[in-house]
Amino acid sequence: MFDRENYEKRIEWYKDARFGMFIHFGAYATAARGEWVRSVEEMSVHDYQKYIDAFDPDDCDMKEWARMAKKAGMKYAVMTAKHHDGYALFDTKLSDYKTRRDFVAEFLEAFRAEGLHVGLYFSLIDWHHPDYPHYHDRHHPERNNEAYKNVKHDFDNYLRFMHGQVKELCSNYGKLDIMWFDFSYDEMRAEKWQAQKLVEMVRSLQNDIILDNRLEVSGEGFGSLLSDHPSDYCGDFVSPEQIIPPYGLFDQQGRPVLWEACITMNDHWGYHSQDHNYKKPMTIIRKLVECVSKGGNMILNVGPDARGRFPKETIRILNEISVWMRNYSESIYGCGASVLNKPENGRITQNGKILYYHVMEMSIGGIPLYGIHRDNVEAIYLLSDHSELQIMDNWIVNNYPDIVFIDIKGNDLPDPIDTVIKIILK
Ligand code: GLC
Repeated sequence: MFDRENYEKRIEWYKDARFGMFIHFGAYATAARGEWVRSVEEMSVHDYQKYIDAFDPDDCDMKEWARMAKKAGMKYAVMTAKHHDGYALFDTKLSDYKTRRDFVAEFLEAFRAEGLHVGLYFSLIDWHHPDYPHYHDRHHPERNNEAYKNVKHDFDNYLRFMHGQVKELCSNYGKLDIMWFDFSYDEMRAEKWQAQKLVEMVRSLQNDIILDNRLEVSGEGFGSLLSDHPSDYCGDFVSPEQIIPPYGLFDQQGRPVLWEACITMNDHWGYHSQDHNYKKPMTIIRKLVECVSKGGNMILNVGPDARGRFPKETIRILNEISVWMRNYSESIYGCGASVLNKPENGRITQNGKILYYHVMEMSIGGIPLYGIHRDNVEAIYLLSDHSELQIMDNWIVNNYPDIVFIDIKGNDLPDPIDTVIKIILK
């Protein structure tokens, strides 16, 4: 039975946090063609072994990762404990298919030390396990390999293994704030994963943990969290992937539903040495604002290389984000959708009686703050330096008394990416 009161309490920190780091780290970084390389190239587990053997990150300083995440204003981080290739980054006793170093332990220690909430990504799919369906599975690397056509898989044995590894993660690594399961497809969803039993176990070991919705769906679909009868394994947030829900997300009663857009900086989750199609920092910042203005979170992905280093483009982007967040993070944390409609020159995020007007387009003759009425205004400040902004009162704007105009001197916005104006309402 869905306990809404407990749910609202559980997600409070997460809603306030708004901005997280996703880390896709694993042996696939050695292939350097993304985390789906085994499936895309229909690679046998034997051929993949050379990447496993070669994966030995010698320059992997997770304390440095954590410092960069914190500086960029990220309040939580989620790292892959095991991706679809089945290669565990933690000291599982249920398999030898694991890294020598316990990267999960290092990640949790480093990011907790910087004060971030921490979560683990865990793949429900396991292309290495002999009892996971191979032939004619939609994604398995051996899906077209006739040699597997008549192989019988003991899927219950696989479930015991998969649940066992989740239990290890929830038992042996201290308090986890998020478990990010990934992903359901075709008939592989819900009770096929024995999701009820899995979630009961997870919540018995990690009482306040927040779960995503991918025991029911993938990046496609919302799951029963939006329905009138949410399942016990619907998760706590919807996980739109590489997209921002155009209008935010609401359940069938019209109540806002928590969601987190998971976004890559380039076009891959795992490290891809030839993918230099990185988004501009301005785009990422403006999309973070869009997420918050629509009542959602953004988790921004980093794919460290096989030596354990963030790609240089990633570092540059995080540094640019940190400059903007240092000035304006107050308009992100604890904020959400505004009662006002989106203005034509930017976006609005709101926290109680404070509106943050994100101006992304310069005006001529004073900046109009659409939807704001002077009778409701206590004070207006430029957020970056907390300098007061005066409401314009002159012949230029007097034809439009129902709009508040403010005069930011000069012909350019103080911050061309997004100049945030803080409006304290009466
Ligand atoms: C998709 C991809 C997976 C990635 C996940 C992140 O499920 O298959 O590789 O980890 O998205 O959201």
